Amino acid sequence: MPQEIRLNAFAMAAASHLSAGLWRHPRDRSVDYNKLAYWTDLAQLIERGRFDGLFLADGISVYDVYKGSSEAALRLGVQFPRIDPLLMVSAMAHVTQHLGFGITSSVSYEPPYMFARRVATLDHITNGRAGWNIVTSYGDSGAKAFNGQGARQHDDRYALADDYLELVYKYWEGSWEDGAALRDRESGAFTDPSKIHVIRHDSAHFQSEGVFISEPSPQRTPVLYQAGASTRGRAFAAKHAECVFVSAPSRKIVKDIVADTRRRAADNGRDPQDIQFFMSLTAIPGRTRQEALDKHADYLRYANQEATAALFSGWTGIDLSRYKRDDPISYIPTQGQQSAVERYTTAEPGRVWTVGEVLDRVAIGGSGQLAVGSAAEVADELQAIVEETGVTGFNLGYVLAHESFADFVELVVPELQRRGAYKREYRSGTLREKLFGAGPRLPETHPADQARRKLAVEVD
Ligand SMILES: Cc1cc2nc3c(=O)[nH]c(=O)nc-3n(C[C@H](O)[C@H](O)[C@H](O)COP(=O)(O)O)c2cc1C
Repeated sequence: MPQEIRLNAFAMAAASHLSAGLWRHPRDRSVDYNKLAYWTDLAQLIERGRFDGLFLADGISVYDVYKGSSEAALRLGVQFPRIDPLLMVSAMAHVTQHLGFGITSSVSYEPPYMFARRVATLDHITNGRAGWNIVTSYGDSGAKAFNGQGARQHDDRYALADDYLELVYKYWEGSWEDGAALRDRESGAFTDPSKIHVIRHDSAHFQSEGVFISEPSPQRTPVLYQAGASTRGRAFAAKHAECVFVSAPSRKIVKDIVADTRRRAADNGRDPQDIQFFMSLTAIPGRTRQEALDKHADYLRYANQEATAALFSGWTGIDLSRYKRDDPISYIPTQGQQSAVERYTTAEPGRVWTVGEVLDRVAIGGSGQLAVGSAAEVADELQAIVEETGVTGFNLGYVLAHESFADFVELVVPELQRRGAYKREYRSGTLREKLFGAGPRLPETHPADQARRKLAVEVD
């Protein structure tokens, strides 16, 4: 029996996401990223295709490494301008029934209490379909815009993230016992206060004392996603993440990240299968192989090399304008996405990437994999990747909104279903239940649950 493949659509609340410059294509809709109908249409489309979720990347930094300036990114619309993805979710939830939502939110910018409340609200009103992509925020420009100071150092951001998680677990898991919300019309007691506890937190980063203002939502803690893949990032994922998003130019690197993170999770006392991996992939399927190749060639005409360079330079912290096309890229320690630099340097010993190769590779679909071909060929590729790397599924990027997802739903989904590698119907229940087949709450081996049990005996 083939493994069931899981799918998230991968998007951002900006014009063009991973394929820089493609918003110029006459069939692209992403220029309407700031219209609600753009998002509700997308949600309904991918729910028709039985996607597990919509994964929304986000951040408040602009891409300003290329030529030491943000000019190119601003002028060419490189993930800029960008609006807040969280606000679209309630409208999308209203027009769908099963689709999950992975919302990116940064531990550097959102105060834990307010964020925990907002996500609990989302989990309530979506009936337990909320997920959180935990990011630490590497960009200096966002940090400066936020509070006038640059971003924290790489490993310090992860220390802050660990602390943040410890605190939000207390809000979501530790303040309210099950059964505390009574809604008892007869007695007039809305809650049983003896089951609502004050939580306390006093750490280097956060101080908090009080009850959590939101009653427990269906999942309590939203499904936890994480994407950083440096050594420190993997340690963080192995501790907290339920879903890890991996993006790399080769299957070997992805396989190593999956195996290493699962090993670390086991060392933490977690079941390695309690972590699912989603690999970044952009598919260009056609009715025939030739149709797909023609489509790819057409898309490439709208790719923008300067915009791609601005994007890649921002991700890695390496200013590509300083190099010629034939120059090799070599490892430079940065305070940005260390894992993004590693992917093209140290992750595959002996593989040297030139600047030109990187630009051609990243132009369509960014650093993820690209699958171009007939529906059967794309399905073959997805199944081979799952088999070879151990990933659970894919964060599927788009080239053109919403054409790329519509093509996938029309052509590849039925092919995968015929092969028994993709669901025909959704499971019932919350996002966590749909993904893991167990209960709506985190398992006992997860630190969130440990926080709940510890608090249950300590609080007043
Ligand atoms: C595949 C991938 C996707 C990411 N998506 C986002 C994002 O949407 N928003 C964000 O602020 N950071 C994002 N990040 C950045 C990470 O959260 C993290 O801050 C950064 O990668 C540095 O950690 P690392 O060196 O462990 O990779 C992403 C990173 C990776 C590898």
